[in-house]
Amino acid sequence: MSPSVSRAEKPLPVVGLIRGDGVGPEIAQATVRAVEAAGAHLRWEPLLAGAEAAEKRGDPLPVETLARLRQLPAALKGPLTTPVGGGWRSVNVTLRQELELYANVRPARSFAGVPAPVGGVDMVIVRENTEDLYAGIEHYVDLRRSAAEAVMIVTRAGSERVLRYAFAYARRHSRKRVTLLHKANILKKTSGLFLEVGREVAARHPEIEFRDMIIDAACMNMVMRPGQFDVVVTTNLFGDIVSDLAAGLVGGLGLAPGANIGERGALFEAVHGTAPDIAGRGIANPTALMLAASMMLAHLRQGAAARRLDGAVRAVLAEGRTVTPDLGGSATTEEYADAVIRRMAKGRRRGA
Ligand SMILES: NC(=O)c1ccc[n+]([C@@H]2O[C@H](COP(=O)([O-])OP(=O)(O)OC[C@H]3O[C@@H](n4cnc5c(N)ncnc54)[C@H](O)[C@@H]3O)[C@@H](O)[C@H]2O)c1
Repeated sequence: MSPSVSRAEKPLPVVGLIRGDGVGPEIAQATVRAVEAAGAHLRWEPLLAGAEAAEKRGDPLPVETLARLRQLPAALKGPLTTPVGGGWRSVNVTLRQELELYANVRPARSFAGVPAPVGGVDMVIVRENTEDLYAGIEHYVDLRRSAAEAVMIVTRAGSERVLRYAFAYARRHSRKRVTLLHKANILKKTSGLFLEVGREVAARHPEIEFRDMIIDAACMNMVMRPGQFDVVVTTNLFGDIVSDLAAGLVGGLGLAPGANIGERGALFEAVHGTAPDIAGRGIANPTALMLAASMMLAHLRQGAAARRLDGAVRAVLAEGRTVTPDLGGSATTEEYADAVIRRMAKGRRRGA
């Protein structure tokens, strides 16, 4: 396309929308409204997955949804139910593996006005998203179920691609330090391989400070001195746990966005689950999904709309007048979305 073609004439990028289960449809509706008000340049394509798909199609991840996700540049996804102990395998994990979304990026930055155990947090956790114990290779050792065992898989190629992504992310976002979290003192081969590859990749990035830390010490340090963490990179299970810890440091799961990035596609979501205890009441906090949508806009190179949305969410939270019950307020999901939208309109009028 010639550079003289204006933005208005460019075809709209098509973005998948999985509304999700539980509070998913409520927070997805609020987020879609906010994304549109941010001036995003895209067209939504609703896709079926989760409990609704299991009921209607007998499959929580229908083949046509997966096929479409393979074609689209990005998708926004509400939380999906995973039955505990039986039922279907996690759709979230299947999506990450099928689409090879190998890097799970979870930023945690303190919010003005939101009560949190510590301040000054500004870290981004990059979690390897396809290997480790999540490879799903586990079995009982006998028919009596006297023991069960699982296989932890760490490959050189899988480690290298996520570590390269973490360093590239640090460079792109002018971040100074990458900290690799591991347990190589005990898991000498698996966690040890991840650390070995980390050191190799770090050697190719002398401009970025690199250090490694044992996962248990890292958990304590994150609580006591969170300011020392900038970009953090780790294997799947440690990343899962430590990113919830980081979410807790900035005010809770209702505020934590995540991106699943691959070579050909990307899936943006809230870190939290379907919140069945409050589903259908219209009081879920849509912040995490809104911030995930902001990350998606940045990924689609719509930086202005991304910043507008992120800024409005942070401003409404800082004001503290229109917040949902999880943050001590009495606003509904829709009232909160209205406040975010009003804030963006105000910002645009000021900018005009
Ligand atoms: N990415 C995903 O799709 C994802 C992630 C985690 C859990 N899950 C699934 O979600 C289901 C429920 O899991 P869970 O109960 O362990 O975790 P959860 O995150 O759904 O809920 C934990 C607590 O946080 C609260 N909460 C979560 N999101 C909130 C929001 N937006 N606003 C206000 N409060 C919120 C809930 O009310 C609940 O008290 C399970 O089936 C689980 O497998 C899905």
